Amino acid sequence: MLDQEFSSDIAVVTGGAAGLGREISLALALSGAKVLALDVDLVGLEETKAIAAESGGEVIILQCDVADSEKVKEAFKYVEKEFGLCTIMVAAAGIALYTEYLAMGEKEMDRAIAVNLKGPLLCAQESLRHMEKAGRGNIIFISSVQAVMSLFGCVVYAATKAGLIAAARTLSLETGKMGVRVNTISPGTIDTPMLARDLASMNREEASKFLEKVKAANVLGRIGKPSEIADAVKYLSSSKASYVTGIDLRVDAGFTALKVI
Ligand SMILES: NC(=O)c1ccc[n+]([C@@H]2O[C@H](COP(=O)([O-])OP(=O)(O)OC[C@H]3O[C@@H](n4cnc5c(N)ncnc54)[C@H](O)[C@@H]3O)[C@@H](O)[C@H]2O)c1
Repeated sequence: MLDQEFSSDIAVVTGGAAGLGREISLALALSGAKVLALDVDLVGLEETKAIAAESGGEVIILQCDVADSEKVKEAFKYVEKEFGLCTIMVAAAGIALYTEYLAMGEKEMDRAIAVNLKGPLLCAQESLRHMEKAGRGNIIFISSVQAVMSLFGCVVYAATKAGLIAAARTLSLETGKMGVRVNTISPGTIDTPMLARDLASMNREEASKFLEKVKAANVLGRIGKPSEIADAVKYLSSSKASYVTGIDLRVDAGFTALKVI
C-alpha cells in the first residue's frame, strides 16, 4: 500500500539487492521516499527495482561497493545532482563470516572490516554532508545481536557489529545540533538470503536442528521477517522517533533477554 509518510525524504539504502536492504528500500519507497539502493550485486538490484515497480513504487539503483570510498563519494554526488539532499541513510550491506579465528586470513579479516564497518562509516560521512546542508536527517546502521551475544567463529563479524553501535552512539553526539539522529538496529535471526546461505552449508538434519535451536533461543519462538526490520527503520526515520538518538534498537524477539540453561 502506498502512503506518503516519507514524501519529503531522499533515502540511500546500502545492500538493497537482497534481504533486509531490499525490504527497507521497498518499504521506504512505498511510503513516499525517493530511494536509491546501492549494492555490488547488479542482478539483485534489478530485481529490487522490478519488485518496487510491480507494487506501484520506484527504487532507483546504483552498483556500488560500500568499501570503496571513491565509489561511495560518487554515489552521493549522483544523488545530490539528480535528486537532492539525502535525508535518510540506512547501511544494511554486510557480509557474514563463520571462520575459526586461528584459521582466519588477513585478507578475509580486512574485507569483513571494510564492508561491515568502514562501508557504513563512509556512507554516514557522505550522507552527513547532505544532512548538514538539509538541516535534518536520519542515519541508521544495521548491526546485529552478535554485537553482544556471540556464536562461535564470529570474532571479526561480532567486532564490526559492536563497532557500529559504538560509532552510531558517538556520531550522534556530533550530529544532534544539525538535527540529525543516528541509531543502530540489532536484528535477531531474520529470514533472508544470508540465513539461507548459512543453512545451505549444513546437511538437512543439521539445518533443521539449527532452525529449532534458533526458534527456541528467543521468547517469541520464531524467526523474524525482513518487514519487521523495515518497520523498525521506518519508526526510527519518522517523526514518531523525534526524541530518539544514539540508541541501539534490538529487534530480536527477546533473544538477548533470554538466558538459555
Ligand atoms: N539476516 C539476519 O538474520 C541478520 C541478523 C543480524 C544482522 N544482520 C545484518 O543485516 C544486514 C543485511 O543482512 P541480510 O540478511 O539482508 O544479508 P544478505 O546477504 O541477504 O544481503 C546483504 C546484501 O549486501 C550486499 N553487499 C555485500 N557486500 C557489499 C558491498 N561491499 N557493497 C555493497 N553491497 C554489498 C550483498 O550483495 C547483499 O545484497 C547485514 O549487515 C547483516 O550483517 C542480518
